Amino acid sequence: MTESISKRLPQPHSKNSEMRTNLAREAVAELSDELLLLISDVFSLFLKTKNFHWHVTGPHFREYHLMLDEQADQIFAMTDVIAERARKMGASTVHSISDISRHQRLKDNNDEGLAPLRMFEELLSDNQQLTVFLRQLHEVCERHNDVATASLIEIWVDETERRAWFLSETLVDLRQPRTA
Ligand SMILES: [Fe+2]
Repeated sequence: MTESISKRLPQPHSKNSEMRTNLAREAVAELSDELLLLISDVFSLFLKTKNFHWHVTGPHFREYHLMLDEQADQIFAMTDVIAERARKMGASTVHSISDISRHQRLKDNNDEGLAPLRMFEELLSDNQQLTVFLRQLHEVCERHNDVATASLIEIWVDETERRAWFLSETLVDLRQPRTA
């Protein structure tokens, strides 16, 4: 068990944790560890999508701006559900931006003046990577028979693949040679 998780789990004889789930303590340790990484990635991707929503420029500004806002809303909606899955197991979740930055696997991008092509390439790559993380967590859920988290992940994989679809179609358009 990692140090971060051992601090986030309830005490072995906590009445609260005994009441919340019949998952084994080892299962809760592994699942809450994975949920902590996932929520950190999701918050990071939410903020990057908002960052690009705010900073995107160009001839298709309105279309890109609105699409990224829609995607950011969908990503943000995941955060509360992930955090509450951890709490329902009796584990804790992220407390702050600094907590998120210690656990995120997806990278931030603080570049100024990023071209729309680069923004969409990076978001596509991040969403594809998120799908990999979600599928890996689904395997952990199946191993521990955590059907509740598994069912949520199935929806999030579908949503993430939809975002990737829209991003990849936008990239096809952006890569078309421009005619004067
Ligand atoms: Fe906005």
